[in-house]
Amino acid sequence: KETKSEYIDKNLMIGSRMTVEEKVIGVQNGKIIFLESPEMEEELRASFHFNKDEMQVLDEREFFCPGFIDTHVHASQYCNCGLALDLPLLDWLRKYTIPTEAKYKDLEFAKDVYSACLDRSLRNGTTTAQYFCTIHRESSNVLVDLAIDKGQRVFVGKVATDQNSADYYIEETKTSIEETEKFVQDILSKQVNPLVNPVVTPRFAPSCSMELLTNLGRIAKTYDVSIQTHCSETLPECQWVKELFPGFEDYIDVYDKAGLLTAKTTLAHGIYLSEREMSRITETQTKVSHCPNSNCSLMSGLCDVRKLESLGVVVGLGTDVSGGYSISMLDAMRCSITVSNIIASAKDGGYVPFNYQDALRLATISGAEVLGISDKVGNFEVGKDFDALRVNLSPKAGNIDIFGYETMEELVQKFIFLGDDRNIREVYVAGRRVIKKF
Ligand code: GUN
Ligand code: FE
Repeated sequence: KETKSEYIDKNLMIGSRMTVEEKVIGVQNGKIIFLESPEMEEELRASFHFNKDEMQVLDEREFFCPGFIDTHVHASQYCNCGLALDLPLLDWLRKYTIPTEAKYKDLEFAKDVYSACLDRSLRNGTTTAQYFCTIHRESSNVLVDLAIDKGQRVFVGKVATDQNSADYYIEETKTSIEETEKFVQDILSKQVNPLVNPVVTPRFAPSCSMELLTNLGRIAKTYDVSIQTHCSETLPECQWVKELFPGFEDYIDVYDKAGLLTAKTTLAHGIYLSEREMSRITETQTKVSHCPNSNCSLMSGLCDVRKLESLGVVVGLGTDVSGGYSISMLDAMRCSITVSNIIASAKDGGYVPFNYQDALRLATISGAEVLGISDKVGNFEVGKDFDALRVNLSPKAGNIDIFGYETMEELVQKFIFLGDDRNIREVYVAGRRVIKKF
């Protein structure tokens, strides 16, 4: 049931201890109200007033996994997924991405792509996503309304751009400020859905004047909302920022002086940060979204997430569609492991690359920390919202061979390395079942 359900869960997975087995989990009004051993079942049912028919039992070779959190994805680029990956970032933006984003002036086009993007993202187990839309406020609202309808937990930004873009895809500074503020106000005033959050979204420093950046910092502060942007993704981009903002110490200093480095800020990429920049990120509790598929596909570089984490930076994972060609967080997890292995292979030992547990942590609880919602989601602690995937590795899914002797943790491992949307039988966001495949 949407508001009240209970599971006997033999095979339940939880964030910090990788897996827990033989548990019964209670969900009421979207929240996890207990997580206990099955012997307690009758007692719990009585005290929380659950009927027997509200109880479900997982099948063999099934487990719950916390929903995935995609901390950086361009909904407006979803139509380009798998296309246009033959150029590095700045050329790619000019030739393919800006012309695509310009199409979102057309609300019907926006509706078609945003709808497909949300559906595909949910089917792949992304229960929370932080989206870039385009410079168009109205069409960004189309994504908001579709997300409410489809039930994904979303952070949504109308992109702000007032320089170094195409003449058909650019805003006046004043308009960009006003439209961003209106977009934020509209979402906040709706208050109908606690799953939707506005995000102040300068595209990146090169495409924003200092006046715009500063005003966006002010808006984020006034309304106490999140910020997202790109930072230090490629060397030519870093060089360009140096030329465009000569009075500043470095790339991070531009965002810093504009008031854009906050505990609610997500910087996508962060590959070429200096020691000074990393320490400012740590001091301001700014978060980083690691986008390994995109960083490889656009030939941007390898981000050393271990290093960032060792300095106390909270890092989540992003698909960065369509710089990244896959909207699946399972793909992002695998790419993060591959990138980490490549970094390790270039060192003289002593570097511990990411394993599947690290990747899963990044895709769940760390993503929740990036977005400031780790009190609500990210694992199955009592009191949190039930954002979960019912994962199925049976022959019904048909894509992974299981031989029967595997431990629960091995099933999880196979899911991470070999799984896809066929294995995600159901998806829940705040207790609402938003996907049911069989
Ligand atoms: N930097 C500025 N805009 C973009 C974008 O759309 N994608 C990526 N990957 N980097 C950017
Ligand atoms: Fe991006």
